[in-house]
Amino acid sequence: MAQDHGLDPSELFKAQAHIYKHIFNYANSMCLATALQLNIPDIIVHHKNPITLQHLSSSLHLPPEKTTSLQRLMRLLVHSGFFSKTKFNDQESYLPTPSSILLTKNGIPSLLPFVQGMVDPVMVNPWMRLGDWFKGEETTPFEIANGSTMWDYCDKDPVFNKKFNEAMASDSMMMSMVVGKSESVFCGINSVVDVGGGTGVVAKIILEAFPNMKCIVFDLPHVVEGLIQTEKMMFVGGDMFQSFPSADAILFKCVLHNWSDENCVKILKKCREAIPSKDKGGKVIIIDMVVDEENDEFEITEAKLIFDMIMMVLLTGRERNKKEWEKIFLEAGFSHYKISSLFGLRSLIEVYP
Ligand SMILES: C[S@@+](CC[C@H](N)C(=O)[O-])C[C@H]1O[C@@H](n2cnc3c(N)ncnc32)[C@H](O)[C@@H]1O
Repeated sequence: MAQDHGLDPSELFKAQAHIYKHIFNYANSMCLATALQLNIPDIIVHHKNPITLQHLSSSLHLPPEKTTSLQRLMRLLVHSGFFSKTKFNDQESYLPTPSSILLTKNGIPSLLPFVQGMVDPVMVNPWMRLGDWFKGEETTPFEIANGSTMWDYCDKDPVFNKKFNEAMASDSMMMSMVVGKSESVFCGINSVVDVGGGTGVVAKIILEAFPNMKCIVFDLPHVVEGLIQTEKMMFVGGDMFQSFPSADAILFKCVLHNWSDENCVKILKKCREAIPSKDKGGKVIIIDMVVDEENDEFEITEAKLIFDMIMMVLLTGRERNKKEWEKIFLEAGFSHYKISSLFGLRSLIEVYP
């Protein structure tokens, strides 16, 4: 006999569905990665008209006996918003959505490398060690699963290093849609150091929009080694906890969320030494998430909270709300800041000495 919780059986069955959906949520990640492995977004996006299942199957060169399996994969991907369905010439056909448009091979921007880099055993295995990490002494679940910190792992494994850097570069390409429209942010700035700037995608986008500027991309030696530099865009290898070059502005995109509050304060104190004073226009520009559970839509908050857990599993960082950002800015000796929510999940934060 079931225990009497005072709950209607229908509520408990609903709870069962809720639990099962969460247990198997990884199926969503895996189906998305499979769709990319099969090249489904490219075929659908580049097809002139809505495409039928048969046509999709033959374009993907799948054996005919896999057509019904493809239909089942497509049914889930339509349900989760990666494609839509319509009637075309009286036949059920598939159409792209903005999400699949962002996942084609040669799209600009394309988030395909981001999916490939993130749905990788190196990134997924640490999740199986999260429980052990809570009870143990190791710094991160990533370290338990892969034997070293994430940045040391990238240094040791050139294949993963390339995959990770390409993933971040694809994420950064999204900035090409907004940087040119952010004149007020870059107004009066002649030089920028992009600290933890990866392979320099954001720096290139800044230079395209503001050609008179000079950019230095600063990152770990294994990231910037061998990258081609120009007079306007230089690459410097080093450790941001030691020192980084001076400039009118220091930029961090998706960097400070990798680090604990204590380490962020250390890095931000170094920024104060590297930029001019307040009256000479020095500033720090941060592109990162700001958690805002009260005002954000449910799906945006869910994505930000998932990223917060990603920072716990892979690194020692966190996603911060406004108060938490403010605390580290003040502790590092900055006087004021301004947050603009420009980029979907990410905000732009200008921090002044
Ligand atoms: C999440 S990635 C962000 C890359 C880039 N800003 C972007 O958004 O595309 C963080 C970057 O910080 C770099 N990094 C990690 N530790 C560092 C250190 N001690 N000094 C300099 N860069 C570091 C990593 O190599 C990596 O490129």
